[in-house]
Amino acid sequence: MSETAQEGLRETTIQPPFPTPMNTFDQMSERGHERVSFHYDPETQVRAIIAIHSTKLGNALGGTRRWHYATEADALYDVLRLSEGMTFKAAAADLPMGGGKSVIILPQAKYPMNEARARAMGRFVDTFNGTYIAAEDVGVNAQFVDWMALETKHVMGGDTVAAGGDPSPYTARGVVNAMKACLETIGKPADFADVHIAIQGVGSVGFSMAKMLTEAGAKLTIADIDEDAVNRAVRELGATAVPLDEILTTKCDILAPCALGGVINGNLASKLQCDIVCGAANNILDDPDEDSAALQNHDVLYAPDFVANAGGLIRLAGLYLGMTEQQLDAKIEQIQTTMQQILETASTGRSTHAAAISFAKKKIAAGPIKSERVTAN
Ligand code: NAI
Repeated sequence: MSETAQEGLRETTIQPPFPTPMNTFDQMSERGHERVSFHYDPETQVRAIIAIHSTKLGNALGGTRRWHYATEADALYDVLRLSEGMTFKAAAADLPMGGGKSVIILPQAKYPMNEARARAMGRFVDTFNGTYIAAEDVGVNAQFVDWMALETKHVMGGDTVAAGGDPSPYTARGVVNAMKACLETIGKPADFADVHIAIQGVGSVGFSMAKMLTEAGAKLTIADIDEDAVNRAVRELGATAVPLDEILTTKCDILAPCALGGVINGNLASKLQCDIVCGAANNILDDPDEDSAALQNHDVLYAPDFVANAGGLIRLAGLYLGMTEQQLDAKIEQIQTTMQQILETASTGRSTHAAAISFAKKKIAAGPIKSERVTAN
């Protein structure tokens, strides 16, 4: 694949604005991080950060994000926030894995991937001896992962050298299972016949999910900044396309943000015309505590994103841990039961997001699931 072909891949996801930073140790202590490591490779000028939030349940698996940040403080904030999210995602999915993430700070927005830079990152990952396992994220594709894997065995999600492949279809399956739990929670049958779903972003996960939902009888409305992605969903799935600024407020049963984070805030909550918000995007809510409560006040059921979108992590972590295809399938199915359990424990004064965090924290406090745990070395 040429550098030009790779350079646009997965770089369309826009970041929400970053808040004013605190100093590094304050941020680490507030979120409970174990370790943050900065790396500069003089040969390739790769500048990267690996953050390990927790290894309490096992080694920390989380993607490597390549992004052009306005400031180094933004990069640090992002990697700390994302790695914390991975701890909760793994714990809620009952995986004996911890939470970590890494970012490569790009000097400009469009910056090509190449083997030398990927291998430099691979060497950095290798210094963690398996306590951190890298994978794909925004700006990183399977080829980049395979290049990293030439320097370390602690990477998942490549096509040739690193095991796992593209996790997106598994993430999509998990979100569909989470949607079933949501439908049941509001007293509707857990099938999609005539259920109207609005999807923001029909990229890797969004399109895969849209295909499953269409096959299950759902009616789809979609929007994407990429015209080709829109045309494909209309042509192949019979979806109805709407302008970008209409998708979030489309009247529908389920709104599925599958593009970027921070798309829903307290102001938007009152304008939504859906019964359920359940999507693949990480950090759907701008301010999870406040916005989750605002959605609840407007009778919109919010499916906590880190529970709904765990399918890809389950796939990669499961393969890493040596699970069979059957065990992996069962774990992705389990997202429905887990989501149902979490939604049931939410109540007035306790949002679904708060219920999900508390569910994950209990799993972490209980300690590792010994029967499934393996070491990375
Ligand atoms: P992707 O980059 O393949 O797809 C994102 C799609 O959203 C693209 O088609 C893009 O054009 C579109 N988009 C970007 N900004 C938009 C906007 N303002 N309005 C409408 N469409 C917009 O990414 P992928 O892999 O499908 O991931 C989607 C989301 O799910 C991301 O937030 C990602 O972090 C999250 N996620 C993905 C996982 C995976 O397995 N790929 C796992 C867990 C979370």
